[in-house]
Amino acid sequence: MTEPHLWWQRGIIYQIYPRSLMDSNGDGIGDLPGIIRRLEYFSWLGVDAIWISPIYPSPMADFGYDVSDYTGIHPMFGTMDDMDHLLAGAHERGLRVILDLVPCHTSEAHPWFEQSRSSCDNPKRDWYLWRDSHPDGGPPNNWKSVFGGGAWEWDERTGQYYYHAFLKQQPDLNWRNPQVRASMYDAMKFWLDRGVDGFRVDVMWNLLKDEKFRDHPLIPPSRSEQSPLLTLLEAIPIDQPEVHEIVAEMRQVMDRYRERVLIGEIYLPLEKLLAYYGIDGCGAHMPFNFQLIGMPWDARVIEAAINRYEGMLPEGGWPNWVLGNHDNSRIASRVGQAQARVSAMMLLTLRGTPTMYYGDELGMHDVPITRENSQDPVEKNITEASFGRDPERTPMQWNSGPGAGFTTGEPWLPLADDHQVLNVEVERKDPDSMLSLCRRIIELRRAEDALSVGNYAPVRATGDLLAYIREVKSRRFLIVLNLGHHAANYECPDFKGRVMVATRIRKEGFPVDRRIEIGGDEGLVILLED
Ligand code: NOJ
Repeated sequence: MTEPHLWWQRGIIYQIYPRSLMDSNGDGIGDLPGIIRRLEYFSWLGVDAIWISPIYPSPMADFGYDVSDYTGIHPMFGTMDDMDHLLAGAHERGLRVILDLVPCHTSEAHPWFEQSRSSCDNPKRDWYLWRDSHPDGGPPNNWKSVFGGGAWEWDERTGQYYYHAFLKQQPDLNWRNPQVRASMYDAMKFWLDRGVDGFRVDVMWNLLKDEKFRDHPLIPPSRSEQSPLLTLLEAIPIDQPEVHEIVAEMRQVMDRYRERVLIGEIYLPLEKLLAYYGIDGCGAHMPFNFQLIGMPWDARVIEAAINRYEGMLPEGGWPNWVLGNHDNSRIASRVGQAQARVSAMMLLTLRGTPTMYYGDELGMHDVPITRENSQDPVEKNITEASFGRDPERTPMQWNSGPGAGFTTGEPWLPLADDHQVLNVEVERKDPDSMLSLCRRIIELRRAEDALSVGNYAPVRATGDLLAYIREVKSRRFLIVLNLGHHAANYECPDFKGRVMVATRIRKEGFPVDRRIEIGGDEGLVILLED
């Protein structure tokens, strides 16, 4: 018998960027009633949970990652009633709902910050990170903002600087203040009491900064060209050891409820990332594993990363994999359409909880958006380099109609030129579409413990091939993925079986006997016989 597993261990998470999933009122921006209308789709696809990026009241300086009320709903997205209906509708279908929690910073429009900035002796002054200027008259230290420029903003009225890791409209909270902690835990309880099934915690590793506010060694220019989110790692002294106490406290809040999940957004090297599982598993249930987003699409590199991750996971630490999100270029643009199918097979057959990004199951790709037409307010703030997050945030493609079934109005970002062929309605009818492929793999994964919670065993492969086994007792699957464009032979003297799913052409039922010819850009899930 497999040990009992929780829903989020067996399940698949589907990320919704709420501005872009479905617009119900024709304003061109997605909303909660829109998500409710599409719940049927998620059940049909076979995912287990939807994670919705922030829907709270916000001036939208960072499209909701600047929260001005942690226990409300932005009118643009709907009402609290809509949220309650969404929760009820999802739960009726057996779908869980995960919200984004953004505890590191608030919006400058949050009443907490308004009070904090009102005077130096306001009781909320210490809720944020205020500092005097450096003796030389400049900012307190050399810390940089992820979104460009310095991380300190001068406040004329009170004659001090406040710290912001992101935009100046996103002042960082002082997590060393117990009242801040208690208030954020109250916000968590508010949603958990309403039935929310978990949180994805924004920049979990950034909650605490160096207590002494020491200068940070400057980043060598060559390194600073990498992704701005990764630059954060090097730009400020974060990932402080005491952050784990806070994560453990968050976990205690979650543990007062049944089967809720705590996920951390953490971009750190593996050794540091794994520390977020906490001592004896009292940290995050799943520190997001973004390795597949950052690494070259190379079979040997990925094989090494999977094996290293599997080998280093702490006792009881449940693995997870992420291929894309609202901050990174879409997988179909990173690796091409054909390999996107292979990547979906990888994501859905590796050991651990997969997080899918909306539209990736259709093969949606980045939509080029000129700097002049950019919507991401962050883009407008960055002068040095293009952050470019709009291309991966374009509206979900539901059908071939003028607004792609997303809106009856003008979509807030342009639709992809090929939305008439790449959309849910067309792909649902086409057994060879990427959507049908994803659904078949998901269906098999749901039916087979081996693929969801079974063991993982690496299998030797060379060149562009990647191979591994997933198994529970005698039920064994061999997954062979060709990460290259050329056909290859895979010699497997001990293996006999039949193909259950193939990414390129339908091969279901094809017998496999010791040697497999695997096409370029092809992936196979093979059920092995004893
Ligand atoms: C990470 C989020 O994913 C990103 O979209 C946001 O801009 C930053 N955190 C700041 O909250």
